[in-house]
Amino acid sequence: MICLISLTLYLLTHYGLIELFQLDMVKVRRFLVLVQEDYHNHNPYHNSVHAADVTQAMHCYLKEPKLAKSLTSCDVLLGLLAAATHDLDHPGVNQPFLVKTNHYLAALYRNTSVLENHHWRSAVGLLRETELFSHLPTEDSLNMERQLGSLILATDISRQNEYLSKFRTHLDQEDLCLGNTSHRHFVLQMALKCADICNPCRPWELSKQWSEKVTEEFFHQGDIEKKHKLEVSPLCDSETNSIADVQIGFMTYVVEPLFAEWARFSDTRLSQTMLGHLCLNKASWNAMQPEEAEGEQAAATEEPSSRALPQGSQEC
Ligand SMILES: *[C@@H]1O[C@H](CO)[C@@H](O)[C@H](O)[C@H]1NC(C)=O
Ligand SMILES: *[C@@H]1O[C@H](CO)[C@@H](O)[C@H](O)[C@H]1NC(C)=O
Ligand SMILES: [Zn+2]
Repeated sequence: MICLISLTLYLLTHYGLIELFQLDMVKVRRFLVLVQEDYHNHNPYHNSVHAADVTQAMHCYLKEPKLAKSLTSCDVLLGLLAAATHDLDHPGVNQPFLVKTNHYLAALYRNTSVLENHHWRSAVGLLRETELFSHLPTEDSLNMERQLGSLILATDISRQNEYLSKFRTHLDQEDLCLGNTSHRHFVLQMALKCADICNPCRPWELSKQWSEKVTEEFFHQGDIEKKHKLEVSPLCDSETNSIADVQIGFMTYVVEPLFAEWARFSDTRLSQTMLGHLCLNKASWNAMQPEEAEGEQAAATEEPSSRALPQGSQEC
């Protein structure tokens, strides 16, 4: 699995970042090899393929006209590095699991954004170890590390409402000014959040595989919890949860609200296509739910045209 290394290297070159920041190719390669190795490739979901997927999505969002014309090279570099490293050394279990098993990381980060802090500090560790930015003024490299942290910490799903309300308020007031550094940073945080959970916005065949992988990881955690007689975490019990209901909940309460706002911010063909896939994928999961979906299925029988909603319709 070398895709994360080659993809990131390709993108750094594509954006001209190697030259602009006078990065040493030997250090860049070494950094990316270490990043790749720090992902646990036996995790069904949180592995370097997920990191590559998020990096690819981030690249697509950075290319959206509104962002492309306002972002600085530094923003792009940080956006790509944050995407590539945002789940570094992910243990394949979630924060509640680390807290209840008294994992040292939970103590180290005081039960707060435990994983995200660890991903960030791991990324900083690799940046320092490979001396990737050692030719830059100390002030600049420290600033890069701080911003990398602020981007990675934004991927903490438990803080989504905070970010989403702030985004919504800005969009309602039409006061986002991409000439302003802190506004641009906020939009990068939102872009990374979208990239991190964009699986349901991919075409069905891809989306479905990601769903199976993430559920496999959840159920694996549930099995460990049962084995150790711990309370089984929400979504992690293979006896009471199904891939379909985990996905439908995730799409309805987490992905749809985020991507609806993103499409308000960046109303492009890409955003509309993503909302279209989201709608169709959710309908596919609903169709696989035999019992609970009865009501909806009845409605669909009465009105067969309701499934042929135009792409991008937010009727889901
Ligand atoms: C983290 O949560 C656990 C379990 O609720 C608690 O025992 C521990 O004291 C908490 N640690 C900190 C630093 O708050
Ligand atoms: C940028 O935006 C922040 C937050 O809205 C604001 O506090 C700051 O004054 C703005 N900076 C400039 C230069 O306009
Ligand atoms: Zn992730």
